[in-house]
Amino acid sequence: MSLFDVQNVSFTYGRGKSALNDVSLRLTAGRNLGIVGESGSGKTTMLRLLLGLTRPSIGEVLLKGERLDPSNKAFMRGFRRQVQAVFQDPYSSLDPRQSVFDIIAEPIRSLKLEGDLKSMIRDALLSVGLDESAGSRYPHEFSGGQRQRIAIARAIVSRPEIILADEVVSALDLSTRVRIVELLKKLSSTVTLVLVSHDISLVALLCHDLVILERGRIVESGPTIEILKNPQHPYTRALLASTPRLPDYV
Ligand SMILES: Nc1ncnc2c1ncn2[C@@H]1O[C@H](COP(=O)(O)OP(=O)(O)O)[C@@H](O)[C@H]1O
Ligand SMILES: [Mg+2]
Repeated sequence: MSLFDVQNVSFTYGRGKSALNDVSLRLTAGRNLGIVGESGSGKTTMLRLLLGLTRPSIGEVLLKGERLDPSNKAFMRGFRRQVQAVFQDPYSSLDPRQSVFDIIAEPIRSLKLEGDLKSMIRDALLSVGLDESAGSRYPHEFSGGQRQRIAIARAIVSRPEIILADEVVSALDLSTRVRIVELLKKLSSTVTLVLVSHDISLVALLCHDLVILERGRIVESGPTIEILKNPQHPYTRALLASTPRLPDYV
């Protein structure tokens, strides 16, 4: 089943400068998708389009065949039940004045989901490897890796079908990074992930399919295994050469 369909999307800003140019891609249920490219290649712009935070200048984004329309409130309510996001910087993405409990409760409250809030928060905390007692503490009491776990708990608590993640491990040290990757791998048995990163080896560990972006254009896309085995485009080969090859891909 197709979850997201991006159809010939371009995004221009300023005087006709283009962050994305005629991009088409598909997110299939159960197949994690990696969007890879150097800094400035348009990855975050692509995620913002998938989240309905920006609109395409040209083209369409569809969720399960329905056009993503940020001005359609009824559609967006349904959309937020299905799609959640985790952002790059675990320091700016969590409100420092809110307890961890309230941060994680936010999607449940704003979506007015039924059920026992306390047990939902506890389950979310436990499934990201945090203790239930974390709920009464505040973001500044946690390390970067723990904060990213809190952000992931907030993204999974409402049981979405899709999680969009933008460079979620870039700000973390190597050992923390490995543990967050393991956590994402575990979660991807129940949600479909879209992972954005400049690090192709990392994304390859978690994603079944890859899209390679260079200056706003897709230069290559397809199953991860095929791209790693036989990269077609020089840009893809350069990305592979610039990061250590990790053998254990999906
Ligand atoms: N609204 C905007 N205003 C100005 N520049 C933008 C805007 N949106 C994107 N860009 C530019 O588009 C390019 C792609 O940005 P981005 O999607 O953030 O890339 P990435 O996440 O791959 O680093 C960058 O050069 C960025 O500065
Ligand atoms: Mg970015």
